[in-house]
Amino acid sequence: MSTANVVDVVGTARDRVEGRLKVTGAATYPIDVSLPGLAYAVLVQSTVTSGRIRHIAVGAAEESPGVLAVITHVNAPRIAPGPVTPLGPSPLPPLQSDVVLHYGQHVAMVVAETIEKAQAAAALIGIEYQRDTPIVSFDDSRTSAVSHPWVPDFVRGNAAGALGAADVRTEATYTTADNTHNPIGLFATVASWDGDALTVHDTTQWPHGVRDSLAAAFGVDPGGIRVLVPFVGGAFGAGLRVWPHVTLAALAARVTKRPVKLVLTRAQMFTSIGHRPNSVQQLSLGATRDGRLTAIEHMLTTSLGMAEDFFNPIAHGTAESYACPNVSARARQIRLNIPPPSWMRAPGHAEGSFALESAMDELSYALGMDPIDLRVKNHAHVNPETGLPWSSDALRDCYRVGAERFGWRALDRKPRAVRHGHLLVGYGMARAALIAYQPSCRAVASIRRDGSAVVCSGATDIGSGTYTVMTMLAADYLGLPVERVHFGLGDSAMPTAPQEGGSGLAGALGNAVQAACVDLVRAFVNRVTDDPESPLKGCRLDGITVRDGRMRITDDPSRSETYAEILARHGLDELRIEGESAPPGEASSSTMIVQDGRFIPFTAPSTGARAHAGAFAAHFVEVRVDADLGTVRVARVVTAVDGGRILNTKTARSQIIGGIVGGIGMALLEETVSDRSGRLVNTSLGEYVVAVNADVPDIDVLFVGRPDSMTPVGSKGIGELAITGIGAAIANAVYNATGTRIRSLPISIDRVLGAASSRT
Ligand code: MOS
Repeated sequence: MSTANVVDVVGTARDRVEGRLKVTGAATYPIDVSLPGLAYAVLVQSTVTSGRIRHIAVGAAEESPGVLAVITHVNAPRIAPGPVTPLGPSPLPPLQSDVVLHYGQHVAMVVAETIEKAQAAAALIGIEYQRDTPIVSFDDSRTSAVSHPWVPDFVRGNAAGALGAADVRTEATYTTADNTHNPIGLFATVASWDGDALTVHDTTQWPHGVRDSLAAAFGVDPGGIRVLVPFVGGAFGAGLRVWPHVTLAALAARVTKRPVKLVLTRAQMFTSIGHRPNSVQQLSLGATRDGRLTAIEHMLTTSLGMAEDFFNPIAHGTAESYACPNVSARARQIRLNIPPPSWMRAPGHAEGSFALESAMDELSYALGMDPIDLRVKNHAHVNPETGLPWSSDALRDCYRVGAERFGWRALDRKPRAVRHGHLLVGYGMARAALIAYQPSCRAVASIRRDGSAVVCSGATDIGSGTYTVMTMLAADYLGLPVERVHFGLGDSAMPTAPQEGGSGLAGALGNAVQAACVDLVRAFVNRVTDDPESPLKGCRLDGITVRDGRMRITDDPSRSETYAEILARHGLDELRIEGESAPPGEASSSTMIVQDGRFIPFTAPSTGARAHAGAFAAHFVEVRVDADLGTVRVARVVTAVDGGRILNTKTARSQIIGGIVGGIGMALLEETVSDRSGRLVNTSLGEYVVAVNADVPDIDVLFVGRPDSMTPVGSKGIGELAITGIGAAIANAVYNATGTRIRSLPISIDRVLGAASSRT
């Protein structure tokens, strides 16, 4: 029997393995969890932006029917700060003082028998504030810039000198708005204690992070804490940190000795779980007359909460973008009395790429050069920061293939050249890139007596397709049909996994699943190789092929045996192996990969050190602008993606579409608005406008490129790729349509009309 027709399932288009559970309502999200004796917690939030609580009157609330506890800073137990994790410091513990640092800060919690009783009691709490004048603007003279080790500057060459000497220069200020993650699933925590043991169902992207943070907060053994989140309901970065409401839910359960459920309201989602901070970015480019970049200067300011630190990698993307000898990219953060910002899909990169790729478009017009030609001319053949060759790079293929599909070269690129009826039609493109990130991760794989496999890891699936692609990978590695593989995640009792964030999980977890599965097959080989009763006696891992639950001698397929037969003969219920993946470059030389059911050594590039490349893409956008109404519609998008090895073309395409939809929102619609006193004024989905189907055209996604050479699984994370660059591609198309450059996101109706009226 030949194995020539063995085809890996990885790389094909597969429906989500959990799709049926989700669409039938059978998937259990944290908000769906109910327990016997469940009580409900409701949060009261500050209505002022800065100051102190002078007096908080809780008597009426405490006497309200069904109330179990009212907790404020006056009576809250001490809560220790959360740990400093690989993602940086934890948010501040809640209810620890009378100081108010932002609008929407949690100032009281009511726990009651029902949510209605908790809400009714919460409304009876009276608070007297001392109001200070909040700092809510970069221009406030009381602000000062924060510099800390998590936000490095990038400096190479002499950007200022090169700018001064450049033949052609562009220099402009670009801004982006505060954006709020709006996952459909409201964030929920259900906590129950049993002595010092705690079980938490929590909307999180990082179960082990929640476990460790709550252990620190309550001074208990992390081994006694279990965090469960089999389904997330969307997150976009909002679930990367352990926010105060999670701690408060656990506190409520500890104080009342009852299981407690806490669900954030939609309005509370705007102030309690981070947001993308606004940015003001000065970006200058210098180039030779023939379009070679000589200088990039990117100085940007972004906002930070009054007492919280987080890492916003906004300058990294600029530093690694183009082959330019003189670069200065510096990000500074300014503390404001605002709800603490955090990471939101492609944090930093989405904002930074808007400025850089808009500026590249401006330069292309200044030079009279096609924007693709300009980008290709300045293509970074090596990582411009380190000088090392990329582990994979098909960006130029992205430009070429995307341009062909879009019909770019045939377009009239003169501004205001094309009309469709009374609408102005414009075309824009941009480069997109994401920095590579792949932390270590563990997974466990087992094959049971019935021949089926269970593989799991304490990771999450925030909608990205983790369940599906990990099932597919395990199926290929073990030689089982996907129907015979169960993949489990979302449980901190499973092997330690990093957060699903930084677009790093598919690689990190995929490599861990591969390591566990390869070692599991090796364990079967070890069982049979000395077994006189086995037809596989004497076999080696590199001499077998796995398929349909059967191990075969590759050179003599008549000799074969199923996993189930081996387990039965050895009297075993299962074989079970835990595996670990290391960050790229730290992978062991004994790493094996699986191809067509055969086990072959992973050969990392032999040509010396490489720069671990992130994913690349090129976006092409057509917009239609109604100059009278100021409306911009995205009419067409083509995005060509180098994501390395694509694990599932269907879920990968969905990731790219999702990023573009988010990018259309960021570019045209989304803006969290606060008034002069720092209160947020549009904290609902009616007033914070996200892109809906009517805003989104058909999106054409093309995959180019080859498996990445530095990571055994070969994939490059694409969860955040597409929201980078797309804002600039849309803005560039708006310029092409209207002849006016809008340098602030969102490109709202008032900005389009304002730009049109100031146009001479
Ligand atoms: Mo993403 S902002 O790393 O969840």
